Amino acid sequence: MAIVAPSILSADFNNLLEEVLSVSSAEFLHVDVMDGNFVPNISLGALVYKNLKGKVDMVFDVHLMISDPVKYAKDFVESGADYLTFHYEAVNDVLKTIEYFKSLGVKVGISIKPNTDVRVLDSYLEYLDLILIMSVEPGFGGQKFIDSALDKIKYLYDKKKANEYTYLIEVDGGINEETSKLVVNAGCDVLVAGTYIFKSHNRKKLIKELKEL
Ligand code: DX5
Ligand code: ZN
Repeated sequence: MAIVAPSILSADFNNLLEEVLSVSSAEFLHVDVMDGNFVPNISLGALVYKNLKGKVDMVFDVHLMISDPVKYAKDFVESGADYLTFHYEAVNDVLKTIEYFKSLGVKVGISIKPNTDVRVLDSYLEYLDLILIMSVEPGFGGQKFIDSALDKIKYLYDKKKANEYTYLIEVDGGINEETSKLVVNAGCDVLVAGTYIFKSHNRKKLIKELKEL
């Protein structure tokens, strides 16, 4: 069974509550935060999901694609993030950032871009609640899945089994009918999907199919 995380980046922001309710059979809600600096696009801030929190029963999975995650972490936690994920490439001191996020009472995730070697995470694995493998360059929805994500997922899955680590392995970008099967076979726990779910005419059915993978 996979955990499905619809990405609201592909939702109609003018009807956000309705859009989110239409995918609320999924366990996670993936919230993409972009600052126009770490990535060449601006999306949304903590205020946008703060009001959704009480209205929908989902785990809020917040993906920070911002240059200064430490500065804004508290706002995102206070607005209702359950998992808060920062980018490895954005911080100087990874361990300090993990410890700081933990002190805020949130589950901590780390993400790596397609060109970052997964082994850079080796010394942090035991402290993490979630690892997010980017299978597209972060910044935009609707891009093509990059295959190198599969080896990274396998690597993290093997490490997890061998050491009894507890992190969830999540993949983000270009997930569709074919790639979802590949990533689940490689050991992925959480499937982020934006375009694939929000473009569908039967979102509920699609979510059910993804969950059953
Ligand atoms: C990209 C975001 C993704 C994006 C995925 O930077 O992190 O979450 O919404 O979109 P799709 O599923 O369309 O590739
Ligand atoms: Zn994302």
